[in-house]
Amino acid sequence: MCGIVGYIGHREAYPIILKGLKRLEYRGYDSAGIAIYDGNDIKLSKTKGKVADLEERLEKEISTNGTLGIGHTRWATHGVPNDVNSHPHYSNSGDLVIIHNGIIENYESLKKELIKRGYTFKSDTDTEVLVNLIEDVKKKENIKLGKAVQIALNQVVGAYAIAVFDKNKPNEIVVARLGSPLAIGVGKDEFFIASDASPFIEYTKNAIYLEDEEMAIVRRHKGVKIRKIKDDSLVAPYIQELQLNLEQIEKGGYDHFMLKEIYEQPRAILDTFRGRLLSNEGIIKMAGVEDNMKKFLNANRIVVVACGTSWHAGLVSEYIFENLARIPVEVEYASEFRYRNPVINENDVVIAISQSGETADTLAAIKLAKSKGAFVFGVCNVVGSSIARETHAGAYTHAGPEIGVASTKAFTTQITVLTLIALRLARAKGTLSSSDYRHHLIELELIPDKVKIALESDAYVKTIADIYKNAKNFLYLGRGYNFPVALEGALKLKEISYIHAEGYPAAEMKHGPIALIDENMPIVVIATKKGHYEKVVSNIQEIKSRSGKIIGIVTAGDEQVKNLADHVIEVPETIECLTPLLTTIPLQLLSYHIALMLGRNVDQPRNLAKAVTVE
Ligand code: G6P
Repeated sequence: MCGIVGYIGHREAYPIILKGLKRLEYRGYDSAGIAIYDGNDIKLSKTKGKVADLEERLEKEISTNGTLGIGHTRWATHGVPNDVNSHPHYSNSGDLVIIHNGIIENYESLKKELIKRGYTFKSDTDTEVLVNLIEDVKKKENIKLGKAVQIALNQVVGAYAIAVFDKNKPNEIVVARLGSPLAIGVGKDEFFIASDASPFIEYTKNAIYLEDEEMAIVRRHKGVKIRKIKDDSLVAPYIQELQLNLEQIEKGGYDHFMLKEIYEQPRAILDTFRGRLLSNEGIIKMAGVEDNMKKFLNANRIVVVACGTSWHAGLVSEYIFENLARIPVEVEYASEFRYRNPVINENDVVIAISQSGETADTLAAIKLAKSKGAFVFGVCNVVGSSIARETHAGAYTHAGPEIGVASTKAFTTQITVLTLIALRLARAKGTLSSSDYRHHLIELELIPDKVKIALESDAYVKTIADIYKNAKNFLYLGRGYNFPVALEGALKLKEISYIHAEGYPAAEMKHGPIALIDENMPIVVIATKKGHYEKVVSNIQEIKSRSGKIIGIVTAGDEQVKNLADHVIEVPETIECLTPLLTTIPLQLLSYHIALMLGRNVDQPRNLAKAVTVE
């Protein structure tokens, strides 16, 4: 997955594209490049590395004030990250230049054909094959760029969001999408192209989101013409007004997006239940759930599909749905589910969880579930994302843009939405008494303030980070609702500090991980008062007698664990099902501080990307 940006209009394209690439670096950051049409020719500069590292070089090499250009920040799929494989890519004649996010699966056979026809290739990428395929079609048929793109894409198997222009027709950019996102910002006599709206939000709030299998010809003075790639039919552009503002996507005084996003959680959780949790009236109102109440109530089971951190939120929801609403739940990795011929039918409700709403495996799992007749409900953060549009109904998390690659506020807001749904269903099914239900609403409403209190542990967590930053391994243990939190804590540490960490259900420790414990092993144990407390205390005793270093996450005022553990981090008391919203906080902070102390790039850890739009 990569970030793509383009501009055509009356302003200088270079600074717009450069800034846009910086905003899209969360999508990939192993190389970057820009191509600008300078009135005569294309000026192209690209190299391995992050956009900021390349800035000087790009500026020097491009030095033009052209008003048409495209740019790309890459997460390598085909071909190692190096200068040659970076985008944009020229066609053999040098007339066409392209940027691409996605994978062309049949590129090898297409490449063989093109080689037979005399084409040569500089890079190992599938993208260079695509631009030459377009050129070949264009020359063979003697047709315009738009038509050639359409014919070429009909020969392609895979996923793409592309932008391509022809230096002989410098008044248009042709774009297309299948499986990778592409937005067109519509300004006054100017147009922006990007993987999401962040590169153009300061210039225009009007955007068109291309649907899969659509292409558009974006013309300088004439506007946007959209067609279906397969049957050539015209599509009326639907221009929507965006709610996002620039401040929301910048760091707001914090050193890193991740830290900003950790600290945003009280507000984000509040935004998640704003207008939905009406505690005075004692009700939960969620249109997507109300409109489909029958489907939920008649469901034999709920199947959750998701990846990464979203999958962990799904695991927490398994406990929540089963305990509160008494609905059986299965939680599946979307990547496994999609290739497993799963037994699923119209009596199942599938909940797809995704921060970005663009994860390729989750999207494919949704399509599979739909084809088998299941009702599919989306829980997404990014408004208008592919998953939000592909699902039958859904609920947004309203966390605001999450830029740090390590997901934080997306996780807690996903759990919040899923809790609201479970509570609403519990009420409808009568599995919670009305007083229990009210009590849950009141406790949920208190969570933002309790998250604020949990964040006060930051300075102390930093001292713990300093003690254990050089550990080679970490174990994270939790039970019940906090078992998925242990998995998430371990994932956070791995992702950004590159320290090996494993999450386990605390009682499983005896079946293997206990062999790893010695005086060099830090073990984070979630031991809140509610939920298997005594059992977890026994596990702590077992660790202690093997000299492991214990970092306990405990309920404020806990004395028992304090006496056993090497360190305890307190979180406020709440009801059991809401504890993950609090116990997660110190684990996020711990990984942040350790990564920072080790000199890691917290917001852009190696090898990862924020939105995985390839399988
Ligand atoms: C990537 C991100 C993770 C995220 C996962 C699923 O791996 O780095 O932070 O949890 O994708 O993404 P989604 O957008 O579907 O929640």
